[in-house]
Amino acid sequence: MNTMVETMNRVTDALSAVELAQERAFCQTVGDFTVPNPRMTCRDVEVWYGPKQAIRRVNLDIGRNEVLSMIGPSGCGKSTFLRCLNRMNDTIPGCRVTGSIKLDGQDIYDKKLDPVLLRARVGMVFQKPNPFPKSIYENVAYGPRIHGLTNSKAELDELVETSLRKAGLWDEVKDRLDQPGTGLSGGQQQRLCIARTIAVAPDVILMDEPCSALDPIATAIIEELIDELRANYSIVIVTHSMQQAARVSQRTAYFHLGDLIEVGETNQIFTNPQHKLTEDYITGRFG
Ligand SMILES: Nc1ncnc2c1ncn2[C@@H]1O[C@H](COP(=O)(O)OP(=O)(O)OP(=O)(O)O)[C@@H](O)[C@H]1O
Ligand SMILES: [Mg+2]
Repeated sequence: MNTMVETMNRVTDALSAVELAQERAFCQTVGDFTVPNPRMTCRDVEVWYGPKQAIRRVNLDIGRNEVLSMIGPSGCGKSTFLRCLNRMNDTIPGCRVTGSIKLDGQDIYDKKLDPVLLRARVGMVFQKPNPFPKSIYENVAYGPRIHGLTNSKAELDELVETSLRKAGLWDEVKDRLDQPGTGLSGGQQQRLCIARTIAVAPDVILMDEPCSALDPIATAIIEELIDELRANYSIVIVTHSMQQAARVSQRTAYFHLGDLIEVGETNQIFTNPQHKLTEDYITGRFG
């Protein structure tokens, strides 16, 4: 009798091992997630909200001077993963991140690292433009001032101007710098938020659906800007628009239910996806 129970147990164990192996094989990301000389490296990243797992064993590099787009159905974990990259998840009660994320080889989850400084190096632009309730000038000057990046009013003025120029907004606002940032149009506000992010000299800019509240003209301006910013920064953009991902990014990562299913050159992902789930999504059969 005992032998039979043992045999049954062994069969059950073997079956669960097969299931686990199948699941692992299923979860393994298709495509090369590495890049030469990466700006950021993410290894075995997992995220939980309380007992619920939202991201499973994600490995992904972020290159220098590249735009990486993250796509996938609603709830697949794009924003969650993006927030791991500058520790914005730290601010969500019950959220736990494991694995390793490095910026230029330095562990960003190192207890000695100040998250405020990290967020200056890895800045974030949100879906809804969120200027501070301050003047246009102050929106941009605020970060450099708290981080002590300039030594005089003249230097700060110059930094505000260069940041607004890089964000493609200077000509539209140079005569009303003392007016509230909230008085600008949605597209202008989003460029103001980009100027604010640039002002503290980041290495990486994270953008979570930055154009979803904008009209097609404002969207086109931001997309052009993203392409220009690539010369100086690494950019990670979450988007629901596959056309936008195709237009602005060089690499694309496809997420599905917390797994990074496939990553590769944007052109390849959209013309020749290797995983069935990626293909279903980009051909509109899912999501
Ligand atoms: N603060 C939170 N508390 C608990 N669960 C959360 C929280 N934020 C996200 N989740 C859950 O984690 C999963 C991933 O959510 P996330 O917002 O990252 O998805 P997403 O891909 O950005 O979706 P969308 O395209 O709709 O923005 C979802 O199941 C979501 O319900
Ligand atoms: Mg999201």
